[in-house]
Amino acid sequence: MKIDELKKKAALEAIKYIKDNSIVGIGTGSTVSYFIKALSFIKEKISGVISSSSTSSEQIKKYGLKILDLNKVCSPIIYVDGADEINNKMEMIKGGGAALTKEKIIAAAATQFICIIDESKQVKILGNFPLPIEIIPMSYSYIKNQIIKLGGEPKLRKNLITDNGNIILDVYKFKILDPIFIEEKINSFPGVVTVGLFSKIKPDIVIIGTQSGVKTLFNKIK
Ligand code: 5RP
Repeated sequence: MKIDELKKKAALEAIKYIKDNSIVGIGTGSTVSYFIKALSFIKEKISGVISSSSTSSEQIKKYGLKILDLNKVCSPIIYVDGADEINNKMEMIKGGGAALTKEKIIAAAATQFICIIDESKQVKILGNFPLPIEIIPMSYSYIKNQIIKLGGEPKLRKNLITDNGNIILDVYKFKILDPIFIEEKINSFPGVVTVGLFSKIKPDIVIIGTQSGVKTLFNKIK
């Protein structure tokens, strides 16, 4: 089965967790695209959605789902999003689609976080996928040097301005042995808006599309 099929299967499985009158937080990416389409078939059942990016908003609007403002919502939110890498502690790298900041905000505000992935996203050690960092443009040289001191190879993501008007540094060749330490360290550099490491805000449920069927993991620690 092709990877896209596995993504689709994980996305369809997530629909089973959407209860009546839910507010659904929506991440960004190709796996989430399948979820948005599937959600549109039950749009009458939910109260509305909160979008993590302009890319997702475009698709959400196309399917006629109602977009809500996170600041005006007080009911529980179920957040559904993909990941670029996930380890066995459910720590993740996210931000391949440059939407990491809003994704982290919605994940933090949500009552339940469901991560939908294909099996290629499962890794032992995070860092093979370049770690995205959203930064304020003025801090570029400073943060680049700090990342080099930490042992990574930062590269500016070309031709990209985030939805928040910032830039993205992708850190290559960065073996992340202690995600909590690295997340805190990078977040402490002035100019960093968000690092795409999710070591504290983790999914409650991970749905994985695999060649041998859909697998669901529950995070018992959280
Ligand atoms: C976007 C993300 C996505 O969840 C991540 O890049 C996975 O994308 P895809 O579902 O296309 O593999 O973090 O910022």
